[in-house]
Amino acid sequence: MCGIVGYIGKKDNPQIGLSALKRLEYRGYDSAGMAVFNPEKQEIFCLKAKGKISELERKFYSAPFSGSPFIFHTRWATHGEASEINAHPHWDCQKNIFLVHNGIIENYQELKEKLEKEGHKFQSETDTEVLCHLIEKYFQGNLEEAVRQALKEVRGTYGIAVISKKDPQKIVAAKLGSPLILGINQDEFLIASDPAAIVSHTRQVITLDDNEIAVLSPNNFFILKEKPIEKIEWDAGEAQKQGFSHFMLKEIMEQPESIETPLRGRLIIDQGLAKLGGLEPVKERLKGIERLNIVACGTARHACLVGEYMLEEYTGIPVEVEASSEFRYRKQILDKKTAVLAVSQSGETADTLEAIKEAKEKGIMCLGVVNVVGSTISRETDAGIYNHAGPEIGVASTKAFTSQLTVLALLTLFLGRQREMSLVMGQRIAKELLRIPELMREVLKSEAQVKELAQKYKDFNNLMYIGRKYNYPIAREGAHKIKEIAYVHAEGMRAGELKHCELALIDENFPTIAICPSDSVYDKMKNAMEEIKARQGKILAVATEGNNEIKNLVDDVIYIPKTLEMLTPILSVVPLQLFAYYVGVLRGYDVDHPKNLAKAVTVE
Ligand code: F6R
Repeated sequence: MCGIVGYIGKKDNPQIGLSALKRLEYRGYDSAGMAVFNPEKQEIFCLKAKGKISELERKFYSAPFSGSPFIFHTRWATHGEASEINAHPHWDCQKNIFLVHNGIIENYQELKEKLEKEGHKFQSETDTEVLCHLIEKYFQGNLEEAVRQALKEVRGTYGIAVISKKDPQKIVAAKLGSPLILGINQDEFLIASDPAAIVSHTRQVITLDDNEIAVLSPNNFFILKEKPIEKIEWDAGEAQKQGFSHFMLKEIMEQPESIETPLRGRLIIDQGLAKLGGLEPVKERLKGIERLNIVACGTARHACLVGEYMLEEYTGIPVEVEASSEFRYRKQILDKKTAVLAVSQSGETADTLEAIKEAKEKGIMCLGVVNVVGSTISRETDAGIYNHAGPEIGVASTKAFTSQLTVLALLTLFLGRQREMSLVMGQRIAKELLRIPELMREVLKSEAQVKELAQKYKDFNNLMYIGRKYNYPIAREGAHKIKEIAYVHAEGMRAGELKHCELALIDENFPTIAICPSDSVYDKMKNAMEEIKARQGKILAVATEGNNEIKNLVDDVIYIPKTLEMLTPILSVVPLQLFAYYVGVLRGYDVDHPKNLAKAVTVE
């Protein structure tokens, strides 16, 4: 989704902005732009390009210029098509004020009509441009004052960075509902919508809160409220490809480590307990909850569907998983004994954030399972657990998903032991969780086999994914992955439902991927596979090592090691991630940047 980078300091080379912007490419975008104040000419130079940052870079190097401050942007179209004119930065009538914006101005039509009547001339179809004209309206020599006045009239969400040639020694940044962080370095300051953009410059950051305005000058910065300086705990290397051809592959392969980190220090094996520091403040209240409503989107929601099986089986708490985008639009039957849990990799997903706000308004306790430390959801919730999976750059979520499953297993242990789960069962789960990273290493050894299978299945345009119980959500996640990066139509089904409809689609051109480990529903999975075979459907199965009989039933098998039924999904999803990755690559797609999608979906 849209990305912002801004710089003010002694270095006057806009290349800094270009390389910072490239670190945001993973978020998905369709155009890019930059505005640079040149002190010699007392002018702001602006360039924009449709498509990739490399196109902007090409334009810049054909006639380079220098200066500071500068602001950069990647746009993901919401209002107005992806075009050069709609790309940011936008400017006012006098070409004095240049601005980049993430978020949506909901009352832009009404503001635009008013400003047009007052004589302002608009160029683009964007909601953003009204901000430039509003600031122009209030500008009397002091940029932050004009920004402050203008924002009073705005409804919606924003993260903005603004520069002006008539008040040139500053960047003014403001935030409401769209993340912005301020990077602090010797003699230079940066602003960005995502720490990944600036972590190679500085790890000293301040996260802006809603309604705050920051003013950055070459040797100082000022925020309307005193804020502590934090430290980013990961380094720039972790956000690089490190020799892998794509971030997605790198992130799939580093899953043994990214599921080990959330477990570190959180298990007391002999007592069969999970120690979750983030839940300490609400530990006693959690003993009294009688219902759990979970909200999440996309892949994170699939993790929650697995969590629903885990939590209900081992804690006895009724659980409902709701798509965040639906949560506040239906009647919620919530009471003080209900807790709401939000699960989000980015911690910025607008739908999930809005669901949390809705629950908080009703006085309900809100918990979070979030990967990005300090993100909005992590700060909006009453308590929570961080995934600690490290930065996830690939748009298709992989390592965040398995770390979400791991954290949900920890939560199950935590809540289960507060209730009916026995010591022995607690110890079994805790011990097995510690083994999972090693078992994951085993699964990853199937990479070459999965690549060959991807070659065999890559030309099918339809795929059916089936599973039951714990692996039903994995069928959905497998289908989700191949849709988003390989653009293959896929259905993720409960195997038992097939015979009620989708079996009608099955023939030799519509293969099935069956997730069928040797668990409590294996025999039922076999029935579904027999029904598919009887209709000449091809089957690729993910099964448990040692299951030799399955070879007589299906066309191809990928084996995963045996583990506790509730933890099987953490392993069974991995071949499906690799399969989607290789089908996407073999079909010639840029799997790290799927078309029309963005990493952090900060619009509703
Ligand atoms: C799929 C994917 C999306 C996200 C969804 C939620 O691979 O990446 O479906 O899972 O947009 O994002 P977060 O977890 O950041 O709330």
